[in-house]
Amino acid sequence: MDLFEYQARDMFEKHGVPVLAGIVADTPAEVRAAAEKLGGVTVVKAQVKTGGRGKAGGVKVAKTPDDAEAAGNAILGLDIKGHVVHRVMVAAGADIAQEFYFSVLLDRANRSYLALCSYEGGMEIEQLAEERPDALARVEVDPIAGIDLDKAREIAVAAKFPDELIEKVAPVFVTLYEVFDKEDATLVEVNPLVLTGAGDIIALDGKVTLDENAAFRQAHHAELEDAAATDPLEAKAKQHDLNYVKLDGEVGVIGNGAGLVMSTLDVVAYAGENHGGVKPANFLDIGGGASAEVMAAGLDVILGDPQVKSVFVNVFGGITACDAVANGIVKALEILGDAATKPLVVRLDGNNVEEGRRILADANHPLVTIASSMDEGADKAAELAAK
Ligand SMILES: Nc1ncnc2c1ncn2[C@@H]1O[C@H](COP(=O)(O)OP(=O)(O)OP(=O)(O)O)[C@@H](O)[C@H]1O
Ligand SMILES: [Mg+2]
Repeated sequence: MDLFEYQARDMFEKHGVPVLAGIVADTPAEVRAAAEKLGGVTVVKAQVKTGGRGKAGGVKVAKTPDDAEAAGNAILGLDIKGHVVHRVMVAAGADIAQEFYFSVLLDRANRSYLALCSYEGGMEIEQLAEERPDALARVEVDPIAGIDLDKAREIAVAAKFPDELIEKVAPVFVTLYEVFDKEDATLVEVNPLVLTGAGDIIALDGKVTLDENAAFRQAHHAELEDAAATDPLEAKAKQHDLNYVKLDGEVGVIGNGAGLVMSTLDVVAYAGENHGGVKPANFLDIGGGASAEVMAAGLDVILGDPQVKSVFVNVFGGITACDAVANGIVKALEILGDAATKPLVVRLDGNNVEEGRRILADANHPLVTIASSMDEGADKAAELAAK
């Protein structure tokens, strides 16, 4: 889960990272009030979960509350790369002497953490990495040892900070690592980290990605979720602990096991090319123990998507044998009753497949078609969706 800048700012403050005051505002009048409260020069900043806000006109300096209100008027409602601005943060203005870059992230490829740091800020990091790779230090961080003061100094030296700044930035790197570690983040990025005219180091912008796998031990992270942006079907799936991702197509997909579901998406997309270009409508993994309730919840979510025209249930019986899955489907259709309105193509294979197919055949539900292979099932579901 990505955080908004103002949420990252609050999190930084909680852990002792130096930040400036910031007040969120949803209307130009609130922007004015926030600017009055902060006093002096303020910066009005679009709160959207995408980069390059400054370039898109989403960050404006305001000398007076009047200016701030005008900036609020200009920024609220702005579309930045498809993200409409509903909220801004009014931040105290910083007297910037120099801008730097720092981030720490989960480096999956190396099964480790990685710190990226540059003494040369003010540039987009992707551009810096491409055009001046020497200016961007990459320092591996041992997840067990983390970033202590010595490690932080090593990072600052690698990033070519001059000696007199190393002792200033190193403690900030340590606290930023604390945010990363204690909050179970996969990314903590500060661009820019600045040196002010008064000689202070401040995080002026923050980007934090939290690891949702740690939700069980980070109860307070639930509050950070952006309810307005969550797809209602995804929210419903989450209530039932289902792994569901909404996609753009017309063929609903249910399978057991992430790998099988992923390949089902490919096969459906491929089959769809012969049927007017229909595509998968979702990813839904019901996991190993496909009980009737889980199957019903899954079908309920998928059938609730108005874009869905047909559903392909692709299950490989393992520990949960095909007969249990078939019973689950039959019971799920009973539970759903009239709510089940779209054709279902079911392909079962694996443990106890004969019995599973017999149960479906006996039930003889008018919406269900049994397919004998994955390709056949995908083709049939695509054909039904195209009708
Ligand atoms: N509080 C502030 N005081 C003074 N200047 C600021 C302040 N916040 C941002 N700026 C200036 O605006 C620039 C852009 O701000 P910021 O980094 O927050 O947005 P961005 O980089 O455009 O957005 P993103 O990080 O999403 O790509 C900064 O590099 C800095 O020069
Ligand atoms: Mg930035």
